[in-house]
Amino acid sequence: MEVVIVPDAEAGGELIASAIAGLLARKPDALLGVATGSTPLPIYQALAARVRANTLDASRARICQLDEYVGLPKGHPESYRSVVLREVVEPLGLTEASFIGPDGTAEDVAAASSDYDRALAAAGGVDLQLLGIGTDGHIGFNEPCSSLASRTRIKTLTQQTRVDNARFFDSLDEVPHHVITQGIGTILEARHLVLLATGEAKAEAVALSVEGPLSAMVPASALQLHPHATVVIDEAAASGL
Ligand code: GLP
Repeated sequence: MEVVIVPDAEAGGELIASAIAGLLARKPDALLGVATGSTPLPIYQALAARVRANTLDASRARICQLDEYVGLPKGHPESYRSVVLREVVEPLGLTEASFIGPDGTAEDVAAASSDYDRALAAAGGVDLQLLGIGTDGHIGFNEPCSSLASRTRIKTLTQQTRVDNARFFDSLDEVPHHVITQGIGTILEARHLVLLATGEAKAEAVALSVEGPLSAMVPASALQLHPHATVVIDEAAASGL
């Protein structure tokens, strides 16, 4: 695992945007796995700025989702499908045709989960998967105790994660209890994993993931198993190392 400490979130966004630009130069139709939350926004802003300045051609890129809430109505502004369309797909000048994600509105969530694993494989696998990290060390929505070999499936959110994500909704009650998430085993199949963490609130989770033992109690520690994992952190998130 490579750990890169950057001065701030903006520098982290620029660094990772450069890595993605390099990937797209080598493989214009690369499948890019994106994460939601506030942390990766500087990456998407840096990529969109390059597209606007005509220094990056992302027109053949393909985008896929990491996780999704279960039960939000189609088109809900906080469904991760809507968030990724708004924050990544549209700013890069792409359309829904180049985007795949799990169906959080499906009646049969188990079938929707295995369908998504199959869709990722059929698309040739993820070339670069962006990850954030929860304050409890989760990646995607794989909460502590998730099997390190898990596949895409339904999970129940911890109260801590619901509280952390309540800022995107009008009230805590509106935050769904259930989600579909790529499993840790699914995530580990991506060819390159890039985790960005910024701010002191992530310092403990980062330290446990990078320097602690491999443990299902700290899902992000699974990055230790990956042959090509890059952890980009600002000085505040590095303060526990
Ligand atoms: C959610 C997402 C994760 C993300 C995490 C942290 O739980 N499912 O993919 O990493 O939030 O979000 P933030 O970057 O806003 O702290």
